[in-house]
Amino acid sequence: MDFKLTEEQLAVKEAAREFAQKELKPGAIERDNHMSYPKEQVRKMAELGFLGMMVSPEYGGGGMDTVSYVVAMEEISKIDNSCSVIMSVNNSLVCWGLETYGTEAQKQEYLTKLCTGEWIGAFCLSEPEAGSDATSQRTTAIDMGDHYILNGTKNWITNGGTSRVHLVIAQTDVEKGHRGINAFIVDTQWQGVVIGAKEDKLGIRASDTHTIMYNDVKVPKENRIGEDGFGFKFAMKVLSGGRIGIAAQALGIGAGSLELSVAYSKEREAFGKPISQHQAIAFKLADMANEVEAARLLVYRAAWLKDQGKDYVSAASMAKVFASEVAMRSAVEAVQVHGGYGFVKEYHVERLMRDAKITQIYEGTSEIQRLVISRNVLNGELYPEY
Ligand code: CAA
Repeated sequence: MDFKLTEEQLAVKEAAREFAQKELKPGAIERDNHMSYPKEQVRKMAELGFLGMMVSPEYGGGGMDTVSYVVAMEEISKIDNSCSVIMSVNNSLVCWGLETYGTEAQKQEYLTKLCTGEWIGAFCLSEPEAGSDATSQRTTAIDMGDHYILNGTKNWITNGGTSRVHLVIAQTDVEKGHRGINAFIVDTQWQGVVIGAKEDKLGIRASDTHTIMYNDVKVPKENRIGEDGFGFKFAMKVLSGGRIGIAAQALGIGAGSLELSVAYSKEREAFGKPISQHQAIAFKLADMANEVEAARLLVYRAAWLKDQGKDYVSAASMAKVFASEVAMRSAVEAVQVHGGYGFVKEYHVERLMRDAKITQIYEGTSEIQRLVISRNVLNGELYPEY
């Protein structure tokens, strides 16, 4: 068994760390306070190749493996989770979905621009009445022969206001249930695409989350992804990979909380010595380190399984549910270690604590991850394949 990252993966980790510490950290608190979209930072992420990491170089991507992607996500998420969710959605939901299931023409038209950051992508599945219950799509796409007419509303769409490309899931035949769902590539400049107000959120506040309305949008037939009726499976397959990205984001929050707490505890003194020398604090750090490392193993393993072409559905859900709970606990403990300073916006840990919560919700809540895991366990998937 080899737990070592390759030289290439280590180089990606180092580049992401340097970028996050030098370019993201300085303005992260301010962007969060003002809900200002990190336009310049996203441009730099694109320049560094972080927006299309796993896409083949043929389409302008980095041609990297999933492990490289998660180590980059981890480093960026230690600092700025608005940036890392933008990166995650573009990489694992939009680019990966298009490269894996799109036609050659779709890849030529959309992928290169999505990798270079010229365009940003969004994944539009959730609706006001279809969150966890994703088969209950109310958005419809009526087949008109050479095109579809799309109508409906999507909620909580990351990159909603800044994206040029939407992957939209819609019901084309209600009678067929989930087999009557399709996925479409929609250009947001088409007539009938209406971007609603930006959400004012608890965390990841600089990221751009919107409600989107599609009013009689004409979608050419060649913009459907896959065979007729493939849309729900497309969404599920894409989300399995997406969950590894969010698990890596959660890991970054946990690890970032630990790093900040270690540094602070060595500087801050109480009762005549650094608080790290008090067992009450040192044991908190030990528990955080323990849990973060366990999360890291689950996240890296899920990414590795995907790279090996093995089944990673359960592994992705395990990584996400565990890492997001670790993120939450570590961030809460980090605030505690920082005491009063942890409760004010001048220090990064209160922002990490607010950001941690969403990792238990988006791309499938912790309850949905447990549903996926329990179904697979009950189907006999008791022991992972090594
Ligand atoms: N891969 C491939 N196919 C899958 C699959 C997977 N991981 N999971 C399910 N399927 C298939 C099933 O095999 C089944 O197909 P057949 O009938 O042909 O066998 C079909 O999909 C329906 O599956 P289920 O019967 O299991 O469907 P269900 O109604 O019980 O729902 C669910 C399953 C797991 C609960 C699913 O609805 C789900 O994942 N819900 C959560 C949705 C979610 O994650 N939303 C996140 C929004 S996106 C987001 O947050 C992005 C962002 O902006 C950050």
